[in-house]
Amino acid sequence: MPLIAPSLLSSNFLLLSSEIKMINESAADWFHLDVMDGRFVPNISFGIPVIAAINKEAQKPLDVHLMIVEPEKYVTAFAQAGATHLTVHIEACTHLHRCIQMIHAEGMQAGVALNPHTPVSSLEDIIKDIDIVCMMSVNPGFGGQKFIPHTLTKIAQLKKLITDTDSRALIEIDGGVTENNAAEIIAAGADVLVAGNTVFSATDPTGMIQALKAIG
Ligand code: DX5
Ligand code: ZN
Repeated sequence: MPLIAPSLLSSNFLLLSSEIKMINESAADWFHLDVMDGRFVPNISFGIPVIAAINKEAQKPLDVHLMIVEPEKYVTAFAQAGATHLTVHIEACTHLHRCIQMIHAEGMQAGVALNPHTPVSSLEDIIKDIDIVCMMSVNPGFGGQKFIPHTLTKIAQLKKLITDTDSRALIEIDGGVTENNAAEIIAAGADVLVAGNTVFSATDPTGMIQALKAIG
């Protein structure tokens, strides 16, 4: 059974408190929180004070996905805001190994995200040190985009790398996950499904979370 991480990027920000309550009471496993800086990605979302506010009501882990340049500058601040899982992009991090060490030193689980064009082989020398690989199945920056089919090949490659190296890393798939493609994504090897638009545009978000959870 996959872990389900609804992305609040697609929630109604005017009703954030009730959206959080819905996720607290649902079958969801994590909150997925997308931080965008307008530099690494062509969009700006929300940051540290908003996550600190979410943390006051959220009763599940906060899986924070940093789409920002120089993420190492903010590791401590996100830990203090309540992040339990902190993911940085390999493309944004010159000293990735040091950044992972910083995340662990703050007591958080460490994730590395890959853009669609970034090969799985780029993880070979870090895979044993991380807890999550966040594989982007859309180009990061926006919710509601279409799943890139080549991701399925990359998931299988990543699964092999994880097995071959005896890594503990979970495979998280982020972008364009729907009730229609979740089964093949899980079959390819995914452990965690992020879902923004699919959950929050559903007439019954709680039912959609339950449906995604029941797949596979
Ligand atoms: C995209 C974000 C995703 C996004 C997913 O840059 O990283 O987490 O919210 O949204 P959907 O599920 O709508 O593609
Ligand atoms: Zn994300």
